[in-house]
Amino acid sequence: MEQTEVMSKIVQQAHIDINEAADEKALQDVKVKYLGKKGSVTGLMKHMKDLPKEEKPAYGQKVNEVRQQIEKEIAERQEVLETERLNKQLEAESIDVTLPGRQIKLGAKHPLTRTIEEIEDLFLGLGYEIVNGYEVEQDYYNFEALNLPKSHPARDMQDSFYIEDEILMRTHTSPVQARTLEKKKGKGPVKIICPGKVYRRDSDDATHSHQFTQIEGLVVAENIKMSDLKGTLELVAKALFGEEREIRLRPSYFPFTEPSVEVDVSCFKCGGEGCNVCKQSGWIEILGSGMVHPNVLEMAGFDSNKYTGFAFGMGPDRIAMLKYGIEDIRHFYTNDVRFLEQFKSVEDRGDENARI
Ligand code: PHE
Repeated sequence: MEQTEVMSKIVQQAHIDINEAADEKALQDVKVKYLGKKGSVTGLMKHMKDLPKEEKPAYGQKVNEVRQQIEKEIAERQEVLETERLNKQLEAESIDVTLPGRQIKLGAKHPLTRTIEEIEDLFLGLGYEIVNGYEVEQDYYNFEALNLPKSHPARDMQDSFYIEDEILMRTHTSPVQARTLEKKKGKGPVKIICPGKVYRRDSDDATHSHQFTQIEGLVVAENIKMSDLKGTLELVAKALFGEEREIRLRPSYFPFTEPSVEVDVSCFKCGGEGCNVCKQSGWIEILGSGMVHPNVLEMAGFDSNKYTGFAFGMGPDRIAMLKYGIEDIRHFYTNDVRFLEQFKSVEDRGDENARI
């Protein structure tokens, strides 16, 4: 057969093969069949050596044209197949934007966390610093440095969980006072609050729990007076329970403050008339406080002739119970989500319908 005829047969057959290739893989096989090392176009080149010299250029030229023709057709077919594949893929992976999304299950802040954060915000606004202490504490900081030596009867006011002879679960947040004062090496001012968990060996009932929270406050500087304490507490009571609230100080006893006072707030429910929340008294006890005992200052290296201060300890559990009308402290610690979810803030609720 004449070489030109062979060539046009190859081109014709290639044209058919290329257009029959159903996918890119099949097209690749066609490409190998014609243009590969053992392909028919490559085969044409092998004839060159048998041709007389003067025919070689023209022959080479023709083979090249064949190759170019086939390459062009393959490239065109490649493009068609690629577009087909992409279209199929797009169809298969298309998203139905009208389907409803999956709902995100949102948690809620624990009511105690919420209350503690609210109180922290208030004090941060007054220029206090937040200091954290240790829940497992030395007897020295929990008692002795707070003017409660080993045999002091007032230790009984706070039944304790001892871990070793000198180590216990802190019974209050007051050891953070002692530790902070010690760190300051006799130099004021000190203005801190210390939130955290405390532990007491107590019967667990509706108003007592072996674990609860406290927020300690301590201000030590020159010239701090009882009126500073009163003003601060009045502000706190109003912020937590409403602008119309008043406070009342009753004499009390704590070994680490002198004088010591118990602080009541006028009942936010009845305004002082007497109701079930205030047990008909018109007043609700919210915290213990007093002027820092000189012994506490001296033990921490402060000159009690130069420095004075006040301290208070409030219970977020009790405050949250009052604010939200919770009747049993154990609800805070049993982690029933049905209880906890009731304290979602308005913002949390807004997000409840969020979907992904
Ligand atoms: N630490 C005391 C208690 O837990 C509360 C308190 C703190 C009283 C600071 C006075 C000053 O009962």
